[in-house]
Amino acid sequence: MTKSIPQEKQQRAEKLHEILNHANYQYYVLDTPDLPDAEYDRCLRELQALESEYPALITSDSPTQRVGAEPLAAFTQIRHEMPMLSLDNAFNDEEMEDFDRRIRDRLNSSEPVEYACEPKLDGIAVSLLYRNGILERAATRGDGTVGEDITQNVRTIYSVPLKLLAEDVPALLEVRGEIYMPKAGFNALNERAREVGEKGFVNPRNAAAGSLRQLDSRITAQRPLELCVYSVGVVEGGELPERHSAVLELLNRWGFRINSEMAVAKNIGECLEYYRSLGEKRAQLPYDIDGIVFKVNSIPLQRRLGFVARAPRWATAYKFPAQEEMTRLLDVEFQVGRTGAVTPVARLEPVFVGGVTVSNATLHNRDEIARLGVKVGDTVIIRRAGDVIPQVVSVVESRRPDDARDIEFPAHCPVCDSPVEATPGEAVARCSGGLICSAQRKQAIKHFASRKALDIDGLGDKIVDQLVDEGLLNSVSGLYHLSLEPLMALERMGEKSAQNLLDALEKSKSTTLPKFLYALGIREVGEATARNLARHFGDLDHLMQADSEALQQVEDVGPVVAHYVAEFFEQPHNLEEIEALKQAGIHWKAEVQEEGSQPLAGQTWVLTGKLETLSRSEAKDYLQRLGAKVAGSVSANTHTVVAGPGAGSKLNKARELELPILDEEALMEMLREQGIEI
Ligand code: IVH
Repeated sequence: MTKSIPQEKQQRAEKLHEILNHANYQYYVLDTPDLPDAEYDRCLRELQALESEYPALITSDSPTQRVGAEPLAAFTQIRHEMPMLSLDNAFNDEEMEDFDRRIRDRLNSSEPVEYACEPKLDGIAVSLLYRNGILERAATRGDGTVGEDITQNVRTIYSVPLKLLAEDVPALLEVRGEIYMPKAGFNALNERAREVGEKGFVNPRNAAAGSLRQLDSRITAQRPLELCVYSVGVVEGGELPERHSAVLELLNRWGFRINSEMAVAKNIGECLEYYRSLGEKRAQLPYDIDGIVFKVNSIPLQRRLGFVARAPRWATAYKFPAQEEMTRLLDVEFQVGRTGAVTPVARLEPVFVGGVTVSNATLHNRDEIARLGVKVGDTVIIRRAGDVIPQVVSVVESRRPDDARDIEFPAHCPVCDSPVEATPGEAVARCSGGLICSAQRKQAIKHFASRKALDIDGLGDKIVDQLVDEGLLNSVSGLYHLSLEPLMALERMGEKSAQNLLDALEKSKSTTLPKFLYALGIREVGEATARNLARHFGDLDHLMQADSEALQQVEDVGPVVAHYVAEFFEQPHNLEEIEALKQAGIHWKAEVQEEGSQPLAGQTWVLTGKLETLSRSEAKDYLQRLGAKVAGSVSANTHTVVAGPGAGSKLNKARELELPILDEEALMEMLREQGIEI
């Protein structure tokens, strides 16, 4: 027998629904959270407790019902009452202008047509049916006529309202939209998959599809999916606005996420402008889009225009250059990097992808080749999203030619013929030649001269390659023995640029210890570690004498980095190089005490309130790096107070004492000005 529910419990449960639904909406739909996480958790736990005491309180729209349910045996098929159509495509401005002309011809109008402009999200199209404001059913598009019932899975997505946020909604409302996986969630998901030796998904769209296709919705619940809506299907018992853009705004008020980039264009010219400006933003958007959808904004005009075959006459998708294309793997070459890492590089039949022609792509290492199962001769899919380097994402096995051959890792370095060694537990194979290997030497010199290292202006990669190939340069210290004549003899080098290079070399002799350490190219010693090492030991001699244990006292230095550093300073040829560099005149001022690097020395700073970009310990660390002391309370001795949202008594005190107060943004600006990279 079910317990009867006391009225106050019922009311409390309803109140909790309201609080939690509102918080979800603010967080997942509007991106403006207004309830602290801890309070949200308290409300959710209170509701769970109530529901476990009175199970009859568990309704399908309860905010507790998002964790997934018992696995299904199979998906049920669903027939869409109103077919889910597809869209025509346009690939250039002319085709867009034709689209606009056809519309005006059909409407017999010379007036400009107003269009709604929406990014075309690259995910999975879904239909959500709400009866009296409650989510009843969710289905995939399928073939447009018949789809699959994915209600259990869709319920787990927080941006899907389980109950609409208004009373006056149509009795029956079908909302359509796209379920997608934002790039950040996709990357994190794939990283986790790879850590445990799984393949991962090739792109965010496949990841979204794979996540929705789970029979076990508890798995879907773990996946970072989002819903963005773009139209309505069946509507009964209610009226909707007569402009598409107004329909979307109404849906947004009812609880759905709509695309924040959506805009209205007054005519086709504005559509083309919108297409271009979004194209520029494409790489920075937090989700993948493959084009822009343009829709006649007036619904009465949409009705007049109607449909052809399976697509509306009133809409089209203007596609962006594809981010994935097929091409053939012609060969694999092996490149040797600064640390000897032997990297397989795919030579591809040139292919236009992501807006550029790609003919090479990295295959990373042996594990990646095994993961892809790729052979020379294979047809492969290349992905280039934004400015990210092109990747081979998968092999089209059905197109594998009979003469496809395995990729063989060389046993000897392709440059210096020294043995290639695989380190146990590491995917990377390395040339054992060290600085005997001209490839490693070239890379070491290029690194030494790079901007964040000794910043030698005018020493480009091509020049280093020539100098090494012609035997004019064998080591970094050799740079400081170059003279005018042989430099002038290089390709594309006149007397002026040769002299400029010599001047730049002279200038580079005056540096800092962190830059010098970074320039040495010790494995795993990036800029930040170099800075920490320099600050900790104060001078090079102390650092060179430090053993692994002493090295691990340095901030962010663990056993691996300590090992590489100690090993570096044990090798005679490295010690000789350092000596040769010092002999050549490389020098730096003493660390730490130096005033320039500690502009906040003697100042006491206080952090209060919430920081949103930096963590508190990062902010503290940066300030300390600049010489400041960071204290917990505000006094007349405090130099500056950094106050974030929620700051209370400390901020008030700072105001009383008329101390300088910075917000986080101003703090970051100051840090950047002081050369801290955030
Ligand atoms: S409207 C009748 N709007 O593109 C209009 N579709 O080929 C039909 N899509 O499978 C769709 N973003 O999943 C529309 N803002 C958007 C869209 C969008 C993505 C997808 C949709 C459909 C495909 C159409």
